[in-house]
Amino acid sequence: MKILVIGSGGREHALAWRLAQSSRVQKVFVAPGNAGTALEDGVENVPLTSFEELIAFARAEQIHATVVGPEAPLAAGIVDAFRAASLRIFGPTRAAAQLESSKDFAKRFMTRHGIPTARFATFTDAAQAHAYVDAQGAPIVVKADGLAAGKGVVVALSLAEAHAAIGLMLLDASYTGGARVVIEEFLEGEEASFIVMADGVHALALATSQDHKRLQDGDLGPNTGGMGAYSPAPVVTPGVHARAMREVILPTIDGMAKDGMTYTGFLYAGLMIKPDGTLKVVEFNCRLGDPEAQAIMLRLKSDLADLVDAAIDGHLDRVEAEWDRRVALGVVMAAAGYPAAPRKGDAISGLPGRAAHSEDSHVFHAGTARQGDQTVTAGGRVLCVTALGGNVSAAQKRAYEVVETIRYDGLQMRRDIGYRALGKRG
Ligand code: AMP
Ligand code: GLY
Repeated sequence: MKILVIGSGGREHALAWRLAQSSRVQKVFVAPGNAGTALEDGVENVPLTSFEELIAFARAEQIHATVVGPEAPLAAGIVDAFRAASLRIFGPTRAAAQLESSKDFAKRFMTRHGIPTARFATFTDAAQAHAYVDAQGAPIVVKADGLAAGKGVVVALSLAEAHAAIGLMLLDASYTGGARVVIEEFLEGEEASFIVMADGVHALALATSQDHKRLQDGDLGPNTGGMGAYSPAPVVTPGVHARAMREVILPTIDGMAKDGMTYTGFLYAGLMIKPDGTLKVVEFNCRLGDPEAQAIMLRLKSDLADLVDAAIDGHLDRVEAEWDRRVALGVVMAAAGYPAAPRKGDAISGLPGRAAHSEDSHVFHAGTARQGDQTVTAGGRVLCVTALGGNVSAAQKRAYEVVETIRYDGLQMRRDIGYRALGKRG
């Protein structure tokens, strides 16, 4: 059978690569894909983005199922459009994707259903927002309501920073979220990514993971989409795992069903976990994390096409996911100027060729393109070099060994991916 993956990043490369290994899958198409998916065995890029074109393609190629990578097409209703055309697709509807596309929706949903999250208030009026911040004090977190590609959150350590963020978000039209801010309590603890597959009723937990959001070593510099990740997350002990399912995931799936927005698709809860094991939801995403997906997919031993089928058919309670017991760790290699203004067109050297298969590492592409016979940078996050190891330090060592072989002008990366987990169980 044939599978279609929507998207062009590292997460989609990892999904396509894993799906192509299914014995039932003859071909994985990626729309539009990148230079990495173009070279993957059993994978082919198709230069399509509009829903009409994608639906026509899925029909013409008799695509068995479509898997959506990024949030933008989900928030734009790609799942609704495919289902209306009687095509099998895995992802949340436009209404359900509001869990990510509107912070205000997510916060009100969690409050209504008793799901633990930071205290919050939503404002359209700047004067009221400023007054609220003065009353609450710092540190405090200011978020633009809406998809803002990682730019919409300011963790303000001082009142001055909070006031500046409100000014920017309520006045500056460059925030796609528009004129609404959510202001919330600053949460302390350690963050982890808790991602499940949901079929509307049941949830299948994927391996846990943690990412590094800041650009520079030691968690300094601007927020990014993620500079590296590893799986599993040591902070998610079996007790924390059980609580996350009981207090967050299952109430979310039940609550969405009760509210008439049955949730199907990957569901990503960003959790803030305290040393005593109590947890709160920092955010929901309606998709796999990137670069978490690269680490998770490297560890997945089950047939991903089977899991996707079970999810689309509402049978996730009948399947289990099997994981490589080793640690997977991914290092993001980013372009010059990322995240503010990534430069494109730098030639990349040292990429492993099609024949260079390695059992314990994989170079997932994100922002890459082919220019003649050269692979060049074509986006902020360029590659995610992901490796397996018997422990965090072995996975880290292996990933950086592969990283060292790859070069391009302006390369930015962190040297400390995994440091939190190393501190725990090196
Ligand atoms: P979000 O887009 O909501 O995930 O926020 C981006 C990042 O900002 C999160 O991954 C956290 O590191 C941080 N953050 C968001 N909300 C809070 C909060 N209430 N307290 C502390 N840190 C937060
Ligand atoms: N790495 C965080 C995210 O995908 O949102």
